[in-house]
Amino acid sequence: MLGEKDFDAWADGYEASVERSEEEGSYPFAGYERVVSTIERRVLAGKARTVLDVGFGTGALTSRLYDAGCEVWGQDFSGRMVELAQERMPGAHLFQGDFSEGVVDGLRQRRYDAVVATYSLHHLDDVHKVALLRELAGLLAEGGHVYVGDVAFESRDALEACRAQAGELWDGDEVYFVRDELTGDLPGLTFERMSPCAAVLTLGTAAATAPRNTVEFEIGA
Ligand SMILES: C[S@@+](CC[C@H](N)C(=O)[O-])C[C@H]1O[C@@H](n2cnc3c(N)ncnc32)[C@H](O)[C@@H]1O
Repeated sequence: MLGEKDFDAWADGYEASVERSEEEGSYPFAGYERVVSTIERRVLAGKARTVLDVGFGTGALTSRLYDAGCEVWGQDFSGRMVELAQERMPGAHLFQGDFSEGVVDGLRQRRYDAVVATYSLHHLDDVHKVALLRELAGLLAEGGHVYVGDVAFESRDALEACRAQAGELWDGDEVYFVRDELTGDLPGLTFERMSPCAAVLTLGTAAATAPRNTVEFEIGA
């Protein structure tokens, strides 16, 4: 799994590598622009004023929301990503912190109209992913949504088909979303396919308090 230093090293070349993969229409970033612009449209259509971005990277998505007038809050563990995003969004409230340990104190006390996480949560295993998503759903203002855009599949069979096609490009350290394996712990999770390997998943506030099926680990308690 990539650590914060790996992301520091990748930060300056990150957008170029996303663009290359997207132009080729190949795993892992095929559909990236569709994912990002779908979430941007949904957040703005919902008239969100405050937005939390978890794993904001260079700010590719949140800078669009910032430019549209949203108040932006965020958490990322890479110091270099924080620097690049802060240059792009001088008035954003950006915190450095590892989300495998939950949301940092400076963000936990507030409520957000929208929470977004694009291509960041696959760095967590499913137990931590579910725990964090439930914590994030609990930070939503009434009527708010959590939008996740990521490498994601409806079923394990669909993931395996993509893995076979990607061959040696496949990153076995990353833990991609498989909808059918998450809906038990995240009721109300919706799934919209954006490319053969990407989807937008959406959660509402109900996910924060729904009974758990399989997950016992808890963060941010
Ligand atoms: C692939 S980039 C995605 C960036 C951006 N959201 C986008 O869509 O282009 C993943 C981001 O998540 C951050 N990240 C990964 N694991 C993290 C963790 N455990 N805690 C905080 N940030 C993390 C990385 O530093 C990086 O900025």
